Amino acid sequence: MSDFLTTTEVAAAASVVRNYTNKQPTIGLILGSGLSSLADAVSEPDIIHSNDIPHWPVSTVAGHQGRLIIGTLEGKTVFVLQGRSHFYEGLAINRITLPVRVMHALGVRTLIVTNAAGGINAQYAPGDLMLIKDHINFLGMAGNNPLRGPNDDSVGARFPDMTEPYDSGLRHLAHQIAAENGFSLQEGVYAYVAGPSYETPAELRFLRMVGADAVGMSTVPSVVVARHAGIRILGVSTITNMAVPDPAPGTKLTHDEVLETGMRVIPKLTALLHGMVRQL
Ligand code: HPA
Repeated sequence: MSDFLTTTEVAAAASVVRNYTNKQPTIGLILGSGLSSLADAVSEPDIIHSNDIPHWPVSTVAGHQGRLIIGTLEGKTVFVLQGRSHFYEGLAINRITLPVRVMHALGVRTLIVTNAAGGINAQYAPGDLMLIKDHINFLGMAGNNPLRGPNDDSVGARFPDMTEPYDSGLRHLAHQIAAENGFSLQEGVYAYVAGPSYETPAELRFLRMVGADAVGMSTVPSVVVARHAGIRILGVSTITNMAVPDPAPGTKLTHDEVLETGMRVIPKLTALLHGMVRQL
C-alpha cells in the first residue's frame, strides 16, 4: 500500500458505498470523540460498517465507532461519519482523508466537522463550543499535508486557495442558531497537532504565542482535502478541557475527561447541528 491515495482507490470505496444506498447526500457530518450519539436522530438510515469498504481507514480509538450512516435529518439527506481515524493511529496522512473524498464523490458539498479540543484561550471554559474560524496545520507546514503526492485535477487545483478555510456564511448562521437556542459560541483558531501525547507546558506556551485558541488531533486533514474539492465547511470544537501551561498542582489530563465533557455538551451541539442542517 502506497502512502498516496489513488483515484482508483477512492472510486472503489465510493462504488461500494453506492451499493449500500441509493440516497444522494449533499451534507456531510463528521462526529468526533464521544459525539457518535448525534447520529441516532438520522431517520431511514442506511448503515455501513467501515470494515466493509475497501481502503477505508479503520478507527481504533475509544469513543469512535467507525460507521457511516446515510439518511434523513431535518428533511435533508446527510452522510454521517460516526468516528474517524487519526494520524497517530499510524496511517499515512493521505489515507485518513479517504472518507472525505468518498463523501465528495457521493455529492456532499457542505461539511460540518466536530471535534474535541483543549482550550488555550484563557476566556474559554470546558463545555464551551468554539467555531473554528481558521487553523494552524502544524503537520502540513512540516511536510505532512494530505494533498502531498499526485494531484487529481478533476477534483481540485494543485495549489488550492486557503484564505477562507471555514465558510463565513455558515459561521454567521451558526451564531444565529446558537442565539435562538439561548447559548453563545466562541470563535477561534484551531491548532492541529499529531498527538497522541497531550501537550507539554512549553508546547502550550508556544501554541498560545502563535495565536492558537484551541488544540486538537483531528479535523484539519479532512478540511484541507474538502477545501481542495470545493466543499464548504463549518468546524465546531467542543472545548473538553483547558490546555494551559500552568494547571492546578496535581492536575492530569486523561481521555476519559475529554469524553465526559464531550457528553455534557451533546444537547447544545445537537441543537446547533439540527438547526444548521435544517437551514442549509
Ligand atoms: N490537546 C490535544 N487534543 C485534545 C485535547 C488537548 O488538550 N483535548 C481534546 N483533544
